[in-house]
Amino acid sequence: MIVNTELENKGNLFPSKIIDFKKNVDKLYFTANNDVILQLTVVRDSLLRFRYTTVGNFDNDFSYAITKYASNGYNKLEIEEKKEFFEVSTSKLRCEISKEDMRVSIYDAKDGTLINQDESGFHWEESYEFGGNIVKMSKVSNDGESYYGLGDKPNHLNLKGKRYNNWVTDSYAYGKDTDPIYKTIPFYTGLHHGKAYGIFFDNTFKSSFDFAHERRNVTSFWAQGGEMNYYFFYGPKMNDVVESYTDLTGKPHDLPPLWALGFHQCKWSYYPEAKVKEITSTFRKLKIPCDAIYLDIDYMEGFRCFTWNKDYFPDPKRMVKELMDNGFKTVAIIDPGIKIDKDYSVFKEALENDYFCKRADGDYMKGKVWPGECYFPDFTNPEVREWWSGLFKELIEDIGIKGVWNDMNEPAVMEVPNKTFPDDVRHDYDGNPCSHRKAHNIYGMQMARATYQGLKKYSYPKRPFVITRAAYSGTQRYSSTWTGDNVATWEHLWIANIQAQRMAMSGFSFAGSDIGGFAEQPQGELFTRWIQLGIFHPFFRVHSSGDHGDQEPWAFDEDVTDIVRKFIEIRYQLLPYLYTAFWNYADHGTPLLKSLVLFDQDDVQTHYRTDEFIFGEQILACPVIEPNAKGRRMYVPKGNWFNFWTDEVVKGGKEMWVDADINSMPIFVKEGAIIPKYPIQQYVGEKEITEITLDVYYKKGKEDSELYSDANDGFDYKKGRYSLRNFTLRGKSNELIINQYKEGKFMTTYETFKIQFHGLPFDIVEVQLDNEKIDHKSLKVNDITSIIVDKNFSELHILGIKSKA
Ligand code: GLC
Repeated sequence: MIVNTELENKGNLFPSKIIDFKKNVDKLYFTANNDVILQLTVVRDSLLRFRYTTVGNFDNDFSYAITKYASNGYNKLEIEEKKEFFEVSTSKLRCEISKEDMRVSIYDAKDGTLINQDESGFHWEESYEFGGNIVKMSKVSNDGESYYGLGDKPNHLNLKGKRYNNWVTDSYAYGKDTDPIYKTIPFYTGLHHGKAYGIFFDNTFKSSFDFAHERRNVTSFWAQGGEMNYYFFYGPKMNDVVESYTDLTGKPHDLPPLWALGFHQCKWSYYPEAKVKEITSTFRKLKIPCDAIYLDIDYMEGFRCFTWNKDYFPDPKRMVKELMDNGFKTVAIIDPGIKIDKDYSVFKEALENDYFCKRADGDYMKGKVWPGECYFPDFTNPEVREWWSGLFKELIEDIGIKGVWNDMNEPAVMEVPNKTFPDDVRHDYDGNPCSHRKAHNIYGMQMARATYQGLKKYSYPKRPFVITRAAYSGTQRYSSTWTGDNVATWEHLWIANIQAQRMAMSGFSFAGSDIGGFAEQPQGELFTRWIQLGIFHPFFRVHSSGDHGDQEPWAFDEDVTDIVRKFIEIRYQLLPYLYTAFWNYADHGTPLLKSLVLFDQDDVQTHYRTDEFIFGEQILACPVIEPNAKGRRMYVPKGNWFNFWTDEVVKGGKEMWVDADINSMPIFVKEGAIIPKYPIQQYVGEKEITEITLDVYYKKGKEDSELYSDANDGFDYKKGRYSLRNFTLRGKSNELIINQYKEGKFMTTYETFKIQFHGLPFDIVEVQLDNEKIDHKSLKVNDITSIIVDKNFSELHILGIKSKA
């Protein structure tokens, strides 16, 4: 046996003393005696980037995650050399870099709180097997510190005490402890002493995070190659951390078309055409709103992407048009594996142009997926992405498909133990050639990007709609996502709730689960409870594997159909509210779902809550996730909340029992909120919206609300053709004032608001609209009190007297 003595000595290496410091505009270089350089970039006052090399110079700086639209620029940057450390100060942060060992400590510039501190800090191990380093970072974990984020991990919302890996993986029927699964989002938020910060480890190699698991007071992260390269965001509000991360890795490039926020029905697979039509006409017959119908892999000819099985779908263009006439947008699946078939044009083109991925020694990367043996386009090559985007011309422009569903893009490979490409596969990586070890985690993202480019081109002047299963940080710019192949169990309902919240706090709000479960079959009760949760998920789709029976809203008993209809109708009524929240997400990066900790981090009771969340800004929802329940206990965050069903006001800041039999679920509205609602439609655009209902929830005090509207599709909103209405509500014991401030030049189709008051503590005696007294005889008190006003009012003044009741 040959003993490799070097390997025996293998161990952690550390930076030595800093011997040189240089500054180049916003970049600071600290050089150690042993060739380690720390490059510290001040991106913004609250955002620092730390990047290390161990060989004296840096590789080409390239990232798929960071958007070119990210904001940068700081107000203050001062560097001072002290005896033991260099001190870097911005208006928000003060950062010390120890001269002795390069360790970093970061403080709040204003009150001096120590926010984040290196434990061992940067260190590394040489990778004898692959070359380069296994790069590592360890940080002090503070007393009472909590951790959140990391994308789709199907486990407790608070990551403390756990260790996770990031390597996107096809994970059929995953469970609560499966790790990793489909996505790699190496971003987390830490929270201690009331202050939140974030760390984004932008390294695409297989990475790991340990949140005080191995050692109680240490949190560390490392990757199997590449650079130690991370961004540090300071809040101190968690919402600001998430917004800042989302700004850096990108907000959605476009708003989704409004229909994409409606209900979607999917199954593996609806075919032939007659079956698809049977499903869509049943929705209309039963008056269950639905906007999208999906075609899974069986629409293709032998699972060849961009082809049609003409036996099942003899005239797709006609079918798609007929579905559209009935309000259904057709979404089709497209996978990355291209069948090896010399008579198949997509295969031929890619082969002739050398677009397929190759093994290290030059052979093609061959793997089995649905069509049998396949080759796989190298989506990390810009020329390949351009070609791929062009393939959508017929599907979108000619046939009229409205959305594309990218699946199996981890990339998934069947019948091999690692479920994906071998490590040696080569990738272009946008001109930075590398192996699959580096490209694996972004392969699916680049496929979604290429698909998005195709849809953007051929759907124009309409907006593109893409769904992807695999994702890396930044994928939210191009696509929506779902959580993959879950199971029809109550535990998976809990998981779905966690995952949607976790994705939202990881910058990727447009997410949802396969409602009802993909594998196995739900009972009607589970399906109903899942729909109830689903109406609050930005991506709202039923999907199932199809081999365990039907999963349409009418596949259970009639009660289920009725309750499901009622909840889908609520979703459709809330569309203007959700659309406004989406606009906030696309514009500011504000997460669409807020876990309680994100909503109120100062209340430590929220730090370990998992089930309750805020939908948008002002609606609190909590799914019932156990069978046979007549209600549940839940934590209602601080403040006063109206029960959505009864208008009863509860005071939060405590756990309480909330009734919710199968007909209902715990939903509350924040006092003072003004919630915009549409009339019920069977699909978006069925009716011309001539009036919006504003549900006004009384508050003694002040509260702001918003309503965003535009054409619901198209890009005119980017040229200022939108309408943004800010409402300020001010309530006193016997009056209520609502002020409206308008922005944007879009002419809404609605002309009036129907204002419905909830919880007014007085009888109305007078109503003034823009200082003019109006006739309010139609007003009913103690039933629903409502008035109709012109949409352009500036001030609505309700005066009353205390009711005797
Ligand atoms: C994968 C997907 C699933 C899809 C199936 C067939 O399992 O995750 O959603 O239905 O493939 O395309």
